[in-house]
Amino acid sequence: MDVFEKIKDISAFAAQAREQGLTIGFVPTMGALHEGHLSLVKKAIAENDIVIASIFVNPIQFNNPEDLAKYPRVIDKDLALLQKEGVHAVFTPSVEEMYPETVSDAYNLGSLSSVMEGKFRPGHFNGVAVVVHKFFLIIQPHKAYFGEKDYQQLLIIKAMVRNYNIPVEIVGCPINREADGLARSSRNSRLSPQMKEAAPFIHQQLVEASKLAKELTAEKLAIYVISAFEKHPLLKLEYFAIADGDTLELIKGKITENSYGFIAVYAGDIRLIDNIRLI
Ligand code: PAJ
Repeated sequence: MDVFEKIKDISAFAAQAREQGLTIGFVPTMGALHEGHLSLVKKAIAENDIVIASIFVNPIQFNNPEDLAKYPRVIDKDLALLQKEGVHAVFTPSVEEMYPETVSDAYNLGSLSSVMEGKFRPGHFNGVAVVVHKFFLIIQPHKAYFGEKDYQQLLIIKAMVRNYNIPVEIVGCPINREADGLARSSRNSRLSPQMKEAAPFIHQQLVEASKLAKELTAEKLAIYVISAFEKHPLLKLEYFAIADGDTLELIKGKITENSYGFIAVYAGDIRLIDNIRLI
């Protein structure tokens, strides 16, 4: 497995593979890898000749400086995991390599980016779009893999690729969960034992909501979930939203086919997100 820190080196590696007629699958990550990331890597390995992963904690997508400072960084462990999966090359650029100049790009990501994560994390999706677009230009993969754990991010990347005519196929991958239902996340490693025990409540509430979705209106279902969190001694709900799985338009009244429940919760100072298809 090759590890490249410089744009020109990973670009040359990818260009050589393309010239040989090999297909390239790309898995962008911020590291602190877990089974969720590795499920994307496994799919990429199965579907492509060459797999390139990136590990880069992208500063411009963090709206909270403390979250950025405390983001777990375990590069040697990550590289060992990627090597074990059979990844061919990893791109691990520095911040200076990615952003030699101050970033001023502003993507018009439309209404997809103004709700939920976009509303509560201003600038976040612009930062994601900037870095992912740069990766696509640097690596020019045939396919790129994104998890439904970050469902809104997946839709935004798909929209960016359509709007900017970027020649890459975006592949969505299902949410990978711990045995207790908690969606795997790099931030889970920062949960205290007490919060780790409490956090599966998030997925349990989503499952509960999906069971009630055919009987209740969107408004009533939202109240049901909100009041369950109000009673919880540890977890603090930031939002629960019921929205269309393609447009992210909020559902009103009867819950229609392809509606999803989206949730963001604070477990202490750790912010966790999750989602579920309701119908
Ligand atoms: P990161 O949070 O490291 O996640 C990298 C990829 O792994 C994303 O596509 C994410 O949705 C996916 N992923 C994370 N946890 C998952 C889980 N439990 N099940 C399935 N997929 C999961 O998302 C980012 O990094 C960044 O925003 C990035 C796209 C790399 C741009 O900086």
